[in-house]
Amino acid sequence: MKILMVCLGNICRSPLAEGILRSKINDKHLVDSAGTINFHEGEKADYRSIEVAKNHNIDISMHRSRPITKEDLNYFDRIYCMDKNNYKNVLAMAENQEQKDKIMLILDNDAEVPDPYYGDINDFEKVFQILDKACDTVALKIN
Ligand code: 4NP
Repeated sequence: MKILMVCLGNICRSPLAEGILRSKINDKHLVDSAGTINFHEGEKADYRSIEVAKNHNIDISMHRSRPITKEDLNYFDRIYCMDKNNYKNVLAMAENQEQKDKIMLILDNDAEVPDPYYGDINDFEKVFQILDKACDTVALKIN
């Protein structure tokens, strides 16, 4: 199974989601992440995401930000979006129903993973906890 995590900048939430999910699943699966904007392309994950991941024994220091492409919508089997804006923007890139069916919010009940970019380390830890729980559910479905 090929899984793509998507947020806005691909520096805070989706790199964390990628690292957390990878730590929970068999390595025959592939996990990647991308952003809906290219503003941070080539950058490492936000230092606060790196720190919070490290505190939970997950290393995301190798991550580099990249924007999502149309090819991603063919290549990946499931595309998990962090919030409704990301979801709307990825859905707008889909060229057929098969692609649309792959795209979903990572949380149930229309809930969103809050953007921690303008917050502090505690907001990043909260995001980690939300994603850790969400990835348990994702991992159950794909392992
Ligand atoms: P992310 O967080 O979407 O979780 O990576 C953000 C990263 C960058 C910006 C906003 C949110 N930004 O405005 O540049």
